[in-house]
Amino acid sequence: MPIHHLLLASSLAAMTVPMPQAAHAQEVVKPSLTIKAAKAQFRPVSFAATLPAASGTLVLPLGSEADLASRASVLPDAERAAISRALAAAEFDYKTGALSLRGIGGWDRIHVIGTGKDLSAAAVQKLGTIAGRALMKDKGPLAVLATGLPAEAVAELATGMGIGEYRSDLYQAKAREASAMAGTTIVSENGQAARALYEGRGKALIEAMAFARDLSNEPANVIYPESFVERTRAAFAGVAGVSIEALDVPAMEKLGMGSILGSGRGSARPPRMLIVRYTGRGAPSAGPVVLAGKGITFDSGGISLKAGAGMGDMKFDMSGAASVVGAVLALARSQAPVDVVAIAALSENMPDGNAARPADVLQAMNGKTIEINSTDAEGRLVLADAVAYADARLNPAAIVDMATLTGSIMTALGDDYAGLFSRHDPLADQLVKAGDVSGDALWRMPLHPSYAEDTKSTIADIKNSGASGAGAGAGAHFIGAFVKPETPWAHIDIAGMAWGGANDLKPAGSTGYGVRLLEQFVRNFQPVPKVAGE
Ligand code: BES
Ligand code: MN
Ligand code: ZN
Repeated sequence: MPIHHLLLASSLAAMTVPMPQAAHAQEVVKPSLTIKAAKAQFRPVSFAATLPAASGTLVLPLGSEADLASRASVLPDAERAAISRALAAAEFDYKTGALSLRGIGGWDRIHVIGTGKDLSAAAVQKLGTIAGRALMKDKGPLAVLATGLPAEAVAELATGMGIGEYRSDLYQAKAREASAMAGTTIVSENGQAARALYEGRGKALIEAMAFARDLSNEPANVIYPESFVERTRAAFAGVAGVSIEALDVPAMEKLGMGSILGSGRGSARPPRMLIVRYTGRGAPSAGPVVLAGKGITFDSGGISLKAGAGMGDMKFDMSGAASVVGAVLALARSQAPVDVVAIAALSENMPDGNAARPADVLQAMNGKTIEINSTDAEGRLVLADAVAYADARLNPAAIVDMATLTGSIMTALGDDYAGLFSRHDPLADQLVKAGDVSGDALWRMPLHPSYAEDTKSTIADIKNSGASGAGAGAGAHFIGAFVKPETPWAHIDIAGMAWGGANDLKPAGSTGYGVRLLEQFVRNFQPVPKVAGE
């Protein structure tokens, strides 16, 4: 068995006396009874130039009364008149909301959605998501009357519907099987172009978001570092341009990754550093964009144990890792001309006789020593080695890390924005833009020099949490200490964005935040100068 307690390099040999190994330490405890989640179900999508015969549900997007006259001109006059009367009686404003009408013509339901005038990609995709979700109980066929809309909007509508059809009831297999849905026909005179956009990008996004959300929604007895790796390998199987490497404990020991190894010592499931690279044909050769994700498959707090109430939500603490791998999955499945690496820093934070303690000292791959102030500030420990590895080994054009890092970012930004921290303005600007375009919003936060004071240690180079104050900023500063100052780097704290109850857009659980953001960002990435930022 490897002696991975040797977390400090030989220069600190006096501190590297191995501890006795507990018999169970770092052996994978596989669940004795294997449980298996139900398969994802989405409506198959096709595009057509003309409206199919009335059957099932008709989706009718309308931005004005005039839209009814033009878009619905293919419906019999009597049906159009009935719709018009119903909309007037309901004082439908054509801006937001939806109205479902039953018993008109041969349709079981006509679902009118108010589109307003904003036909931006994010706005239209969101309309589709709400409609897709609202119509999940309609098992019959769906026809979407999308004539008069540009191909981009038509494709976004279809993409949004697929995103909206996601289900988080993973272990209610019977209920899911009983509710399989028939297909969607998107009616558009731009059907060919819309299909190309949908097949070329939208479909991959739908699947990648479902992949990321499934990983986050799965409980920690199913998804642990090794099973996260297995799921990832399965999702990328057969996709061109992809190489996958998973560093196990001995490999990480060899590289000196004492920080992630220290974070995982209390768990029976050993940590992994998962590296997924996709290089598309025609990709620029300036080095990859590296996306590093916090992959804590369960965060109990460790010896700095969390309170019991709501602790189960901490199965979501690998959402950053799920989103970075999801973004690369979307890019790879659509064969985008980009060079991108996802690093999932996977570890389980548990209390145990072998677990790291407050005041323990670890050493990361870049040689920096870390005093553990709280074992509950573990996300930054795994990311320290992930970003140091990227910086030393991958010649990155940029490093962006994504993490459910702090409760403090939730206090600051709620569930409206993820927090963005960067020393490099041109990189931050590209990320904010990608946030606006994708709908996964970002708000830039400061990296004040005082955060360096907050994380000063008297025994090591840095400590993993400050006394109090700007908690999200201190966490960002800590991660930044493991990246060279000149490497363009940004940190995104998604603790407030990754999870939530059911609403119009999603079922209870994971939001999949970050997949669309990072996919959009990497697609449009422009290299930024490698100069020390501040
Ligand atoms: N995974 C948590 C952050 C978190 C907390 C996300 C609550 C969502 C809801 C993280 O590992 C953590 O425990 N952070 C601590 C940091 C502190 C110990 C410096 C926090 O935010 O309290
Ligand atoms: Mn924690
Ligand atoms: Zn955590």
